[in-house]
Amino acid sequence: MKKFVYTLFIAFWASVGTLVLVNMLVPDAAEQAPQRVQEPTETARYSLSEVTKHATLEDCWMVIEGTVYDVSDYVPRHPAPPSVLEPWCGREATEGMRTKGEDSDHSARAWRMLERYRVGGLEPSRRD
Ligand code: HEM
Repeated sequence: MKKFVYTLFIAFWASVGTLVLVNMLVPDAAEQAPQRVQEPTETARYSLSEVTKHATLEDCWMVIEGTVYDVSDYVPRHPAPPSVLEPWCGREATEGMRTKGEDSDHSARAWRMLERYRVGGLEPSRRD
């Protein structure tokens, strides 16, 4: 019985030790997200006139800080009513994203979320 209790004691502290070690080795998940969107790396490029073709809530593209996003799938999940997003579909929407139509920027979490909807970079404007 004594031996069993001793083995249990050792096993317990060994697991605690392993947990502490693993915790130290895993990188910090709460790492701060960059506030600025990185330069687009995709090869896809869209002109502003292409973006303007996606100006409805069901098909909503936005240009935010030089990157093109298709946020159609996010529209129904956005915390503010769709009418808040609608005026920004199919156009340059950096101001909307930075101000929420008022005067406060979206959170770092919202900016990270936005990256999921990236479709490409903005082609420099030209007459088409
Ligand atoms: C560009 C036009 C946009 C406008 C005018 C806008 C406006 C707003 C407003 C007014 C709120 C506050 C809602 C409330 O608390 O009831 C909000 C919150 C939020 N929005 Fe937007 N939004 C826009 C685009 C986006 C996009 C494209 C995303 C992500 C793909 C997004 C993600 C969020 C999230 C996650 C919140 C919760 C609060 C936060 O994390 O900042 N929004 N937005």
